[in-house]
Amino acid sequence: MGKREEKEEKKLEKWRDAGKLGSEVLAYAKKIVKPEMPLLEIAEQVEKKISNLKVKSAFPINLSINEIAAHSSPLYNDIDKAHGLLKVDIGVSIDGHISDNAFSIDLTPEQKYKDLILASEYALKEAIKIIRPGIMLMEVGRIIQDTIATYNVASVRNLSGHELKPWHLHSGLTIPNYDNGNTTKLKQGMTLAIEPFATTGGGIVQDGKPSGIYKFQKHESVRDTNARKILNFIEKEYKELPFSARWLVKKFGTRALFSLRLLEQAGALHHFKQLVEKTKAPVSQAEHTILVTEKGCEVLTKQ
Ligand code: CO
Repeated sequence: MGKREEKEEKKLEKWRDAGKLGSEVLAYAKKIVKPEMPLLEIAEQVEKKISNLKVKSAFPINLSINEIAAHSSPLYNDIDKAHGLLKVDIGVSIDGHISDNAFSIDLTPEQKYKDLILASEYALKEAIKIIRPGIMLMEVGRIIQDTIATYNVASVRNLSGHELKPWHLHSGLTIPNYDNGNTTKLKQGMTLAIEPFATTGGGIVQDGKPSGIYKFQKHESVRDTNARKILNFIEKEYKELPFSARWLVKKFGTRALFSLRLLEQAGALHHFKQLVEKTKAPVSQAEHTILVTEKGCEVLTKQ
């Protein structure tokens, strides 16, 4: 192997390790989640598992219930409990090489969301089957949309999968969950998160409440010393990956919340909003990180 190939192989190894460990963390979450378990407890146990595996969170665990499709993560003083249709979305990072995977779980006694969960899981499976170099984005979107439609529910059209690049969770291509007419072709070597969302509603999400999930946006000078200190920490620790206000409260105390507000107002940080289905209908999600290979794809977060 030449020097160049060796370097490429090393990078691939990191993507693969991130995938393997990310799926291990997801399996752990699947095991511990029970109805009425405090979301904060789920988050803290999962984060402990992540640090035991000597990797980092690529973003705060998303624990989104019912009509909240994504971008919901426990606050430091959260009192919500797991119930209904819960989506658990977890990312780990090895030197910025990210894995992103998710599952949905029905916590109702009568299992009323069973089919809705199957719809997104099956769509993910079907998408993975057809992904190979040369396939167009609209073809991937179409199979997701069509598969979900066989369950008489709708694909969420304004949520999509995404390409993963080192230290960048959403970078490069967007992988549609419907046929959007995009003829861009997938290429060998791309790392992608494929994430179909299915709903009994109209299939459009809109911004909800602030999520407590932030990300570095740009350098802005702030006069407040504490805020400056916290911004430096954020840049060094998370770069442009999303982080939780809860993590900063742990490190700096509740005064970090005031600094976050200042930094958000100054435009230094972006504060994500929860993403809520417009008709308040429940949403399910399934997600894997994959690598496009010579003839097809490799599921990096396979369990
Ligand atoms: Co995800």
